[in-house]
Amino acid sequence: MSPLVSDLHLYDIANVKGVAADLSHCNTPSKVRDFTGSDELANCLKDVDVVVIPAGVPRKPGMTRDDLFNINAGIVRTLIEAVADNCPDAFIHIISNPVNSTVPIAAEVLKQKGVYNPKKLFGVTTLDVVRANTFVAEKKNLKLIDVDVPVIGGHAGITILPLLSKTKPSVTLTNQEVDDLTVRIQNGGTEVVEAKAGAGSATLSMAYAAARFLESSLRALDGDSDVYECSFVQSEVTELPFFASRIKLGKQGVEAVISSDLEGLTEYEVKALEALKVELKGSIEKGVAFAQKEK
Ligand code: LMR
Repeated sequence: MSPLVSDLHLYDIANVKGVAADLSHCNTPSKVRDFTGSDELANCLKDVDVVVIPAGVPRKPGMTRDDLFNINAGIVRTLIEAVADNCPDAFIHIISNPVNSTVPIAAEVLKQKGVYNPKKLFGVTTLDVVRANTFVAEKKNLKLIDVDVPVIGGHAGITILPLLSKTKPSVTLTNQEVDDLTVRIQNGGTEVVEAKAGAGSATLSMAYAAARFLESSLRALDGDSDVYECSFVQSEVTELPFFASRIKLGKQGVEAVISSDLEGLTEYEVKALEALKVELKGSIEKGVAFAQKEK
């Protein structure tokens, strides 16, 4: 649907042909091509500007995103190796869970291949922002289009921290409302997993969010100088090597990591931030250890 997409390459281990044929009938400018199986992966990736990776298995009720690590870590490693070999300059958007570990895995693999550019590796956390905006607008009866809540940390449970005090336009919330909203945003993915009752996790809202992040990246690549999104990236805003916060996107990827959102936090947010760092650190280290062990 985006006029910014000129060519769309679809890759999977099966069932791509039908999806590509289906999409190719839309009267939009982008040319659609399909690639099936590892033999066609290199051709799929040659000369692309942005790679979006949603591959892997989804959660079932009762599982955390980290429970997907054993299967999805290897899938992400294999795909990133191919990205490193075929399109090392591309923006890489990682959706595959657990994002808190798969992004560090990707960084390690790219380092091993000598092509790591931290400005071009992104964990997609846009759905947390989308959920935060929706839930806050619902609660306060606001026009959705106006609401913007920065969400920092990571993309799992308590590592997802919506900064409700920084909501635009500013909203007045009771302590109870802050707690209810924070917990609902943190559990948004689980809400969908439970509603689907074993048939997977969010796909449509995730696609919506991923499309928003992709559109922002394409606008930045096109030279738009006013593009901001939240994303899980290599970062110095805390002592952790990766952290989600607002970033400014430009032609070369991350142009700036906005640290000012972490100033002047409420007591509730400061406490939540300290608590999330412990879990996030463990997930990052788990990803790094996996990539180094499997070298
Ligand atoms: C989500 O936030 O919906 C995704 O990360 C999928 C999941 O497992 O929750």
